[in-house]
Amino acid sequence: MSPAPLRVLVTGAAGQICYSLVYQIASGSVFGKDQPLELVLLDIPMMSAALDGVVMELVDCALPLLHKVIPVTDEKEAFKDVDYAFLVGAMPRREGMERKDLLAANVKIFKSQGRALAEGAKSTTKVIVVGNPANTNAYICAKYAAPKISPRNISAMTRLDHNRATAQIAAKAGVTIDDVKNVIIWGNHSGTQFPDVKHAKVNKGGSATDAYAAVGDEAWLKGEFISVVQKRGAVIIAARKLSSAMSAAKAACDHIHDWHFGTPKDTWVSMAVPSDGSYGIPEGIMFSFPVTIDAATKDWKIVQGLSIDEFAQGKLNATLQELQEERDEALRACEESNI
Ligand code: NAI
Repeated sequence: MSPAPLRVLVTGAAGQICYSLVYQIASGSVFGKDQPLELVLLDIPMMSAALDGVVMELVDCALPLLHKVIPVTDEKEAFKDVDYAFLVGAMPRREGMERKDLLAANVKIFKSQGRALAEGAKSTTKVIVVGNPANTNAYICAKYAAPKISPRNISAMTRLDHNRATAQIAAKAGVTIDDVKNVIIWGNHSGTQFPDVKHAKVNKGGSATDAYAAVGDEAWLKGEFISVVQKRGAVIIAARKLSSAMSAAKAACDHIHDWHFGTPKDTWVSMAVPSDGSYGIPEGIMFSFPVTIDAATKDWKIVQGLSIDEFAQGKLNATLQELQEERDEALRACEESNI
């Protein structure tokens, strides 16, 4: 007998990331090939016609696992009883818009969605925030979803950066993706993030080697590699005139897949989660860490005891400072908004 359907919410469902994301979820790539699903698709009322188009296409895919597709434009209805939520919809940065205004617009969305989670979602709901500024949006969402939903159930996506770093190392070391493991993205999903391979392993010629030795180019690892990963999103926008969508959708699927099924032995992934004080990051900051996930409890743990040298510490400090500034700005916007 097949298990009861999982109820999965995707917001920003008429947008470009979701156009890739919903098919992957509905076809079984995230929750497995035996897990039926009810997909709730939320977008704003103005996008209702486009949302209907996405629903028609999903229906036409004739996917056996997809028991229901529910398009909605009402937030309260959307969050009701959800098991997992992919929060992709956000206010995009428009030309001439200041960072402060972008933060304020997003604070409104994520304050309201945090409350809707608390009101309607299951207490075990797991949430990934993709919409930018992802870490700070997740921080605000967690603040308003608590105490019904534990902040531990709310995360932000840095898996795209993690996947980008893995792919760069594999190409440089001349191996395939599966031969590289345990890269780390520390901090914010922004230009200050720190892609770190000090503790990564590369399988080269049948044995696990430190990434630094496998790559054999310290100057590249401490320079070009870091800036390629930090700036990849902007380079893709310049090339495509649209932001990363296929790779962002794949990364969101990887993130929730590993949260649902757990991480393999001796392997970690990068996820922005509320800090527990590890590595000197103040408690509660939504900071990307290396985490392992237990399949039975679906609970994450920050990997402990990794050495942080002076170079790494400087990078951690910079991304922390940016996150603290964003948080303070967002909290000010929260007080000012009267929703
Ligand atoms: P898009 O503009 O194509 O789609 C966004 C959708 O969200 C639109 O359909 C819009 O109507 C909807 N939306 C806006 N406010 C909403 C609300 N309150 N409730 C529900 N839906 C709402 O954008 P795209 O390319 O799909 O990107 C979505 C977000 O993901 C952006 O914020 C982008 O910056 C971010 N992103 C994050 C990445 C990460 O690694 N964390 C990577 C790539 C993009």
